[in-house]
Amino acid sequence: MSVKDQLIKDKLPKHIAIIMDGNGRWAKKRGNARVFGHKHGVTAVREVTEASAELGIEYLTLYAFSTENWSRPKTEVDALMSLLVTTISSETKTLMDNNVRLNAIGCKSNLPGSVQKRLDECINQTSGNNGLTLTLALSYSSRWEILEAVKAIASDVESKKFNIEQLDDAMFGSYLSTQGMPDPELLIRTSGEQRISNFLLWQLAYSELYFCDILWPDFRRDDLYRAILDYQGRERRFGKTGDQIKK
Ligand code: FPP
Repeated sequence: MSVKDQLIKDKLPKHIAIIMDGNGRWAKKRGNARVFGHKHGVTAVREVTEASAELGIEYLTLYAFSTENWSRPKTEVDALMSLLVTTISSETKTLMDNNVRLNAIGCKSNLPGSVQKRLDECINQTSGNNGLTLTLALSYSSRWEILEAVKAIASDVESKKFNIEQLDDAMFGSYLSTQGMPDPELLIRTSGEQRISNFLLWQLAYSELYFCDILWPDFRRDDLYRAILDYQGRERRFGKTGDQIKK
């Protein structure tokens, strides 16, 4: 039986988040510049997007560029930014064909104007789609997002929109850029690294973590299915005992 056929259809995660890692090492192994790996990473992005849409996953969030990535060599940052522009343009049709709605989180104003423009165009063009929501985390870091939320909350408390005692989990979540999305049930990180790297720290509180050695440009549909299958075999307890969960 194929890996896909082994998946339990009514136990799919609603939201999968992925730290796409290993592009640089993939390129280096082939004697190429790091950007060669990023270019090939686009194939993996297309594969997981199409496979997720086909399975009926509701949300897929990809860590495409972190706040910390700005400190990479300028040539790599520039190449990544222009890759984003060309990929968003060339992949808009794939998104439309698969009923995918594009979304972005992160400090958008830090991105070059050309990226902001293409991003906005694609977000507008796909806004009527109601299948998978594909969120790109761009110039994103979780500590930045949490600090932004804290500042907005402080300002709303100061202007007496609500009382600080009313602040709870759900209200805090509504100040984050993932507002309205369920928390990811599954986080995947490729390339053998086992870290969260400042990604969705609040939202990943109860997520199942899946690490695999595959370098991102080699990640394919079957690898996504394998991660979901592994997730489906886990017992999610949310702090309760195993016996309580089985009841
Ligand atoms: C991490 O690998 C990858 C990135 C920082 C960039 C991810 C970008 C893409 C997959 C291409 C474009 C994406 C979209 C959504 C259009 P790394 O460079 O840290 O690899 P290394 O750990 O081997 O050095």
